[in-house]
Amino acid sequence: VTDPLRTAAQAVQQRAYAPYSKFRVGCALEAEDGTIYVGCNVENASYGLTICAERAAVCAAVSAGAHRFRRAMVVSDADPPAAPCGACRQVLAEFGLQLEVEAIGPAGGMAWTLAELLPAAFGKEQLT
Ligand code: THU
Repeated sequence: VTDPLRTAAQAVQQRAYAPYSKFRVGCALEAEDGTIYVGCNVENASYGLTICAERAAVCAAVSAGAHRFRRAMVVSDADPPAAPCGACRQVLAEFGLQLEVEAIGPAGGMAWTLAELLPAAFGKEQLT
């Protein structure tokens, strides 16, 4: 059976704007109501301004009004598959550490909870 989240992440990976690294990443986020939001990496001639696929997907979802997510699917051409970078882990953590994160590459996939990827996370509970 095909996973629509994976299909969406693979499709948006093709839209990655990565002329510098040539490393294309697609991310699909599944909201609690089943809606899928997608993002790809967007590089810039000023390299440090690059936006990762995961953060692009979060921005698309929040801009559409979604704040609660069940799963994130990250597709790249890396083997072993590329897990979200540290900055993206923190941005995803804003919306819950129970998120199921799956990374897919040409040779297979790996899965974690966001809590496993970001132990001892800083979060809104600290802002009192
Ligand atoms: N990249 C992502 O989009 N997500 C990640 O989790 C890791 C890195 C992008 C940023 C940059 O465009 C390229 O991959 C190489 O770092």
